[in-house]
Amino acid sequence: MKQTIWTAAVAALAMGLPAGAMAQGQVNIICSVQAEWCSMLSTVYARTTGVKVNMSLKGSGEALAQLTAEKENPKTDLWFGGTGDPHLQAAEQNLSLEYKSPLLAQLHPWAQQQAQQSGYKTVGIYSGPLGFGYNTELVAKKKLPIPKTWADLLKPEYKGEIQVANPASSGTAYTMVATLVQLMGEDKAFDYLKGLHQNVSQYARSGTGPIKAVARGETAISISFVHDAPGERMQGFPVDTVTPADGTGAEIGSMSLVKGARNLEAAKKFYDWALAPSTQEMGAAAKQFQLPSNKSAKLDERVPDFKKIKFINYDYAKYGSSAERRRLIARWEKDVNSLPR
Ligand code: F6P
Repeated sequence: MKQTIWTAAVAALAMGLPAGAMAQGQVNIICSVQAEWCSMLSTVYARTTGVKVNMSLKGSGEALAQLTAEKENPKTDLWFGGTGDPHLQAAEQNLSLEYKSPLLAQLHPWAQQQAQQSGYKTVGIYSGPLGFGYNTELVAKKKLPIPKTWADLLKPEYKGEIQVANPASSGTAYTMVATLVQLMGEDKAFDYLKGLHQNVSQYARSGTGPIKAVARGETAISISFVHDAPGERMQGFPVDTVTPADGTGAEIGSMSLVKGARNLEAAKKFYDWALAPSTQEMGAAAKQFQLPSNKSAKLDERVPDFKKIKFINYDYAKYGSSAERRRLIARWEKDVNSLPR
């Protein structure tokens, strides 16, 4: 979903801020979390600082593509959210700028490691595990078992019942490909993905598309980040999640400053603000339940309990490298997506 919102400017006007407040500078942000959270960030930031926030919403892969296209003449100042792998690729391609926030020491080790690994060109802002979403009513009606392992998803009874996103546009789906490669070895993982292809009804553009389709009863099963389910449940949809018993990957949702940003000082201020505990708590307030990277941010009870999940030892540096990410996506297009169903 490509959508541009100018929430902050509208909000500032609606709240009757003085005309001068609109002249406090601006910051242009690509936001790769869900719209409600992006919108809350821009509204609150504009309201408290008077800075105009121009925000456009894009999936992780699409955001990276835009930054690459803008390289010679960047229009974006900051990229907020989205899976960490394409942020690491942006760092390697020199699309992002080294910056050490004074708040860095307040972050969990995994978020600091993400920064270190990129030469401080990105930083972790949240984390979340990959799993399966399912529509509780639909699986009962169709008498489908709840999948427990990756292998379960290949069962013939799931034919046409599974949705996942396209790894070229979606960081969620790329996390799945990289997780399977690490779990099974590359050739076996691609055999697996070919098998899965037979059961997938549709590859969505955005990572959250499939869990929304599950929630609305359009499909029974999805491969999704599990933190995206409680928000759907809160809207009354019959959706639940499970994480694969044989192991899964987690994203390190990240944030990067754009190299050549026209509004660099304003972007740095937003960056520091985004790492503060009270800002990070806005995720849950916007019904999104990733684990915040600031150790002092209060944890909502709906944030997945990482201690109960079997994780692989995801190699963020390797799978965030340009060559590896490009190669795996190209192989998926050629070996999997081109196959008939
Ligand atoms: O906003 C929800 C979310 O699952 C984030 O946790 C994640 O970083 C992002 O979506 C990934 O979106 P996409 O798969 O579309 O790149």
